Amino acid sequence: MSATANPHRPRVYVNDVAPRDGLQNEATFVPTPAKIALIDALSKTGLAKIEATSFVSPKAIPALADAAEVMRGINRVPGVVYTALIPNVRGAERALECGVDEFNLVMSCSETHNLTNLRMTRAQSQASLGEVIAQAKGAGVPVNVSLSCVFGCPMEGDVAEAEVMRLADAFLAAGATGITLCDTTGMAYPTQVAAVCAEYRKHFPVADLTLHVHDTRGMALANVMAAANAGVRRFDASLGGLGGCPYAPGASGNACTEDMVHMLDLIGFDTGIDLPALIAAAKTLPGLIGHDTPSQMAKAGPRLQLHPVPASFAETRARAEARAA
Ligand code: COA
Ligand code: ZN
Repeated sequence: MSATANPHRPRVYVNDVAPRDGLQNEATFVPTPAKIALIDALSKTGLAKIEATSFVSPKAIPALADAAEVMRGINRVPGVVYTALIPNVRGAERALECGVDEFNLVMSCSETHNLTNLRMTRAQSQASLGEVIAQAKGAGVPVNVSLSCVFGCPMEGDVAEAEVMRLADAFLAAGATGITLCDTTGMAYPTQVAAVCAEYRKHFPVADLTLHVHDTRGMALANVMAAANAGVRRFDASLGGLGGCPYAPGASGNACTEDMVHMLDLIGFDTGIDLPALIAAAKTLPGLIGHDTPSQMAKAGPRLQLHPVPASFAETRARAEARAA
């Protein structure tokens, strides 16, 4: 755990977004007490942050219409940051009423995706989020901004890196403490991720940088590894690999938290996370959402979780040895 941080293992900070990015995309409405139990289980695993819900229009995302009840019902573990997605001033007002620790604002780098997802032009989103940042400052709540479609838009194609840096610059200048670069529909690839993250660092040497990737094309963990090797230390991921934007064609799950933590632990990073506790939480998901998840850890377990030899093993060995004799 983080209390015994090893200086040779760089600390990485994991934000689990399953309660928001995951559940927003499920056809089943997960009952409020079950959402609360899921977040409470996640709170005990050593995660740095949990995106507990979103304060968006309940008409847009009915699955998260109980955002306030969820925020009020969870047992907050000291040290864990409970963040929530906020699209506009109305969302910020609702979030302030139930005391979220951080606002995660959202807009897209692609005009088409922004209009589809948020029903606003990018200029309108930027103006509205400027008001939200002022509101958050007044209430002393830190703000992170998630930029969607940084690595490509499913309707427009490639997104100009300059546009990503322009938006990041505007939000950081307005008072945001960090930016999340989101690969909303799994279009990112490792060399691109390393290049964009390096470009961000060149422009913004100290502001937080989080990477948020989806596994739509099987590159999520490769992208995480490329970013980690490029110095990124904050990652969004989703328990069970749930997730996806309902307004992005073909979108599918986030990087799976337990698979990502397993990999980062093995390659020398300190995630601060209790992997068995995380896997135990992941195994409760099919019961909540009514279907299997993409989690490899839930199926196979960590690489050194050994299995007993088959019942016939002694006989097989004896027969082989007899043949050799
Ligand atoms: N929370 C609750 N209700 C909200 C709200 C919020 N944050 N923002 C708007 N509303 C309500 C309004 O009060 C209004 O209600 P009414 O019809 O009962 O009068 C209705 O929603 C429409 O409001 P309007 O401001 O016209 O919004 P819109 O229809 O243009 O939608 C968003 C804009 C941003 C609110 C909506 O598109 C949205 O919530 N999108 C989020 C999508 C999302 O979460 N995607 C996945 C994550 S990236
Ligand atoms: Zn996402």
